[in-house]
Amino acid sequence: MFSEWPRTWFADFMIIFGFLVSGVALAGPSGRAELDPHSYSNPGQVRVGHLDLDLDVDFARKVLVGEAIWSLERQPGCPVDASLVLDTKGLTVIDVRTSQGTQPWQKVRFELGKADAILGAPLTVWLPVEATRVQVRYETSPTASALQWVEPGGTAGKKLPFLFTQSQAIHARSWIPCQDTPSVRITYRASVSTTPDPTGPGGPFRVVMAAEPRTSAQAVAGKPTAEFEMTRAIPSYLIALAVGDLVFKPMGDRTGIWAEPSVVDKAAWEFADTEKMIQAAEAAFGPYRWGRYDILVLPPSFPYGGMENPLLTFATPTVLAGDRSQVALIAHELAHSWSGNLVTNATWADFWLNEGFTVYLERRIVEAVIGVNRVEMEQVLGEGDLKDGLASLPPSDQILHINLKGRDPDEGVTRIPYEKGALFLEALAREVGREKLRQFLAGYFDHFAFRSITTAEFEAYLKMTLFPGMEVPLNLQAWLHEPGLPTNVPRFESPRFEMITKTAQDWLAGAPLPLADETQEWSTLEWLQFLRSLPRDLSSERLAQLDRAYGFTKTGNAEVACQWFQMAIRAGYAPSVEPLEAYLRSVGRRKFIVPLYKALMQTPAGTERAKQIFEKARAGYHPIAIESISKLLNARDATE
Ligand code: BES
Ligand code: ZN
Repeated sequence: MFSEWPRTWFADFMIIFGFLVSGVALAGPSGRAELDPHSYSNPGQVRVGHLDLDLDVDFARKVLVGEAIWSLERQPGCPVDASLVLDTKGLTVIDVRTSQGTQPWQKVRFELGKADAILGAPLTVWLPVEATRVQVRYETSPTASALQWVEPGGTAGKKLPFLFTQSQAIHARSWIPCQDTPSVRITYRASVSTTPDPTGPGGPFRVVMAAEPRTSAQAVAGKPTAEFEMTRAIPSYLIALAVGDLVFKPMGDRTGIWAEPSVVDKAAWEFADTEKMIQAAEAAFGPYRWGRYDILVLPPSFPYGGMENPLLTFATPTVLAGDRSQVALIAHELAHSWSGNLVTNATWADFWLNEGFTVYLERRIVEAVIGVNRVEMEQVLGEGDLKDGLASLPPSDQILHINLKGRDPDEGVTRIPYEKGALFLEALAREVGREKLRQFLAGYFDHFAFRSITTAEFEAYLKMTLFPGMEVPLNLQAWLHEPGLPTNVPRFESPRFEMITKTAQDWLAGAPLPLADETQEWSTLEWLQFLRSLPRDLSSERLAQLDRAYGFTKTGNAEVACQWFQMAIRAGYAPSVEPLEAYLRSVGRRKFIVPLYKALMQTPAGTERAKQIFEKARAGYHPIAIESISKLLNARDATE
C-alpha cells in the first residue's frame, strides 16, 4: 500500500542502510547472531525452520523429557563445514542425530559448551554437509528457568499440581534446545504426554499450548498425547505450554477461557469484552491473523500480569477483581497480536518496539471499548509510573534503544520501554494527527508482518512513510537513543482523577471521608489514584481511619492491596503485618512483590522480615521471580 507514498533517494538509502545494520547482519554469514548478544546461535549460517517436539511432562521428577527435531536451512555463503549452534540452559543432552531427507538418523558429534549464568550453554552440533534435519534428545533441569512446577497447594483446586512455562525473554532455551533469538522465526508441531498419565490415578491433567490443538492423538508408548500445531512463524519466546486441572468455557465464536474449574466462570465474566476488543483492534490496525484468541488463567504465582502467547494469552488471576476494572491487561496482551507477535523486536535492545507500541494500542482499544474516562485515567497513571521509573533508573537504562549486553534481558523490563515508548507514539500522534498515525501503524503491521525488526529499520520506515523527503518534526535521536525525556512531551489529563485527588486532599485538610455509596462507582483505578494522592509518609493513625472506612487490609483486589501494603510498611501499621505476609506467600506477580520487598528493605528490621518471608514464600514463586527477589536481597547485603 505504500507504493502510493512518494519516495526519495534518501528514504531508499535509509531502508537499505537499516537492513545492512540489522537484518543482514542478524542473518549474515558471520556466524553467531552477533547483533543479538543474548544468543549463541548462528542463524546467519544454518537457520532452524520447523520444530517437531515430543515432550513427556514428569510431575514426580519435575522434568520434561524431550525430543526436538529441527529442520535446517543453510544460508547463502554458509561454509561446507559449518556446524549448528543452538541455545540451551540447564539441559542434559542425551544424544544428537542428523538425517538427510527421510534417510535414517545417524548419531553425530556434539558439544555442550561452558555455561554462562545468564545465557546458558551453546550446543554445537557437527553437521554432515547434506544434513537437513537434526534431532536432539534431552531432559530439562528441575530448576529450569522457564518452568514453574506449582504444588497442589498453590492452585485454586489444591488437588493437582500445575506446570506452566514462561519463555520470554530468553527462557525457551531452558526447556527446548533452540536458536533463542527473536530474530529467528519458526513453526512447530508438538506432541505432549504426562506422567502420571492423565487418565490414570494422578489425572485428570489437561495439556494446553499456545498453538492450534490437533486431534490426531496417538498413543505414544501406551500413553495418550495431546497434539498441537503452530502454522504461523513465531519467535521462540512465544512457545508456551501449561498442564493442570483445566477446563474450557467459550465466551464467543473465537474467544474462550481456560482455567481451573472453580475460576473459569469468574474469568469468563471478567473478560466478557474480549470479542469487542478484538473487533476494535481489527478496525484500527488490520485483521487479527491468528485464528482464535483464548485466555489461560494461571495460578497466582504466575510472575507477570499477562503474557501474549499466540492464540492463548497467559494471565494472572490477580486481575479477577470482580468489577472488570483491569481488562486493560487483556487489551494489552491482545494488542501484542499486532505489535510483538506479528512484528517482533529483532533483539531485546529493541524491546520498546514490542511494549511501547503495545501500550499505545492497548489505550486505543480501551478508549474504543470502555471509553475516554478510563483511558485518561490509565494515561495519567502511566505518566506517574514513567516519572517514578525515570527517577529511579540510571541514565543508561532510561534509553528506549537500550544496551543490554552482558545483562539479563529481563532487567530491561522497566517502565521505560512501556511508557516512554507509548509516549513517543503519542507525541507522533499529536504531531501528525491520531488518524494518520493509525494508518501508519496499520501499514507498518502489514509491511513487516511475521518479521522481526530492529529500531534502525523502524526509524528508516518511519522516515520513508510518514515524513518522505521532509525533516522529522520530532527529535528521534533524543526519543530513541538518549536518556530522560525530550522537551515538549505530551501531557495527559483526567478530570475524574482530579476529582479523586481533591477528595484525598480535602480529607487531609479535615473533611470527612466519602461514604460508601459515593465510592461505589470507584474502580481499581480510582482507588489507586486515591491512595497515591496521599503523602508517602501517612501516619498509622491516618491509615487506621482509612482501613476502618474501606477495609483496605482485607481487600481482595491485589492491585489495591499492593499499593496499600506499601503505605502500611512505611508507616509501620501493625494490623497489616500478617496480611502482608499472607499476600507475599500467595501472589508471585513481580510487579507486586518487587515493590513490597523493596519497601520492607528500607529499614534493617524490615530487611530481616523480608528475608524471613522470602524463605517461606520462595517455594511458591516462579524461578524468574526468585531471581528478581534474590538479587534485590543480595544487593542490599552488598551495601550493608
Ligand atoms: N510480554 C510482557 C511480559 C514480559 C515482558 C515477560 C518481558 C517477560 C519479559 C507482557 O505483555 C506484559 O507487558 N505484561 C504486563 C502487563 C501489561 C498490562 C503492562 C505485566 O505483566 O505486568
Ligand atoms: Zn506487553
